[in-house]
Amino acid sequence: MSSNTGVRIGIDRMGMFVPGQYLDVEDLARARGVEPAKFTKGIGQSRMSVPQHYDDIVSMGANAIADILPDIDVNRLGLLIVGTESGIDQSKSSSLFIKHLVGLPNRIESFEIKEACFGGTAGLFAAYHYVAAHPDKTVLVVASDVARYGLGTAGEITQGAGAVAMLISVNPSILVINDDAEDYSDDINDFWRPNGMTEAVVDGKYSTQVYLDFFRHVFDAYCGKHALAPRDFAALLFHLPFTKMGMKALNVALENADVETGKRLRENFELSASYARNVGNLYTASLYLSLMSWLEHADDAAGQRIGLFSYGSGAMGKFFTGCVQPNYRQHLHALAHEHMLMDRERIDMDEYERMFTHYHAAEDAETKYPESGFYFSGVQGAIRQYSRA
Ligand code: CAA
Repeated sequence: MSSNTGVRIGIDRMGMFVPGQYLDVEDLARARGVEPAKFTKGIGQSRMSVPQHYDDIVSMGANAIADILPDIDVNRLGLLIVGTESGIDQSKSSSLFIKHLVGLPNRIESFEIKEACFGGTAGLFAAYHYVAAHPDKTVLVVASDVARYGLGTAGEITQGAGAVAMLISVNPSILVINDDAEDYSDDINDFWRPNGMTEAVVDGKYSTQVYLDFFRHVFDAYCGKHALAPRDFAALLFHLPFTKMGMKALNVALENADVETGKRLRENFELSASYARNVGNLYTASLYLSLMSWLEHADDAAGQRIGLFSYGSGAMGKFFTGCVQPNYRQHLHALAHEHMLMDRERIDMDEYERMFTHYHAAEDAETKYPESGFYFSGVQGAIRQYSRA
């Protein structure tokens, strides 16, 4: 398991952040006149993260880095990349705001990447190749997003918000990534967000079909090239716009698998989907939330091969594999993440609709701020302001 240069590169640390409020999807179902089982079973969601006016991609990304910053040797850091499709500026990178907020040095390189939900993976592989060229350096990759479709839309149940931060290095503590991914891209219109719009435009049913088509392309190509079958993976992990989407893709992978393999991979899929079921779609961060969820819930997986499917509408698909490292559990923050999810405040429909409606409109007006962490504190002279509680 190594790069072409023979160096082992991958994920050394993983941190996350989700907003402090959530909506129970059964409340959403009742308010929209939908059978709750459609959302809990048909879509596969339980709770949806709802961002406050002060939670944006910068504050959430900075909070995700803060989760792992004490474990990082900042002197080795060479690059900070942010993947997002919820950009806060048409020109300036969100990574520069984040770099300043968390106190990273000015000598590092820093930029933002966009290709819908694929942006986090694009960042991860850019980081991989940077580290291959500079093995003494590390890279921080942040995936941060707010998924918004609109009140009363079919996509509403698949909203969410949050961020994942990953440190990429040689000889990583958590996951060695193999540099032999399979890619597939095409110019299609399944989901996009035109300039000036705060909600995504989506052809929902078509998007789910393209997701499955792209998965089939890259998974079959990878397995064919490396003479692998589903039984050779400890887990298959997915970008999860909603958890049922990943289960449908897993079923594609399992079409010709034996019963025991199917049972094992479905059980592991449920472990990987636990966080997503409780926060919703994190767009660029979604696949990496699945990875954290699986690593933080599965039995000891050291030495095992896993497969990961990244999908970004528009569209781009990538299937890649990795090897879980010995003692990886010591480098995760499983208990803290459980508390982060458990300690959230449940909001009702009125509060959810108020927060959704004011999310962008409240930039200058709202004065309520969180009790801890980084937050967006308004706009002054067309410049976004951030603070730390
Ligand atoms: N009990 C149990 N299940 C029920 C039910 C009930 N009472 N009522 C309906 N269901 C089931 C349906 O049978 C269906 O299951 P299958 O998909 O297995 O057939 C499921 O619930 C969903 O029902 P519908 O197809 O009628 O759902 P919908 O028309 O309301 O839309 C959606 C679903 C298209 C996913 C919509 O939520 C949407 O547009 N979401 C946003 C787009 C999206 O997430 N696309 C994913 C691929 S694109 C991507 O991955 C990039 C990204 O992050 C956006």
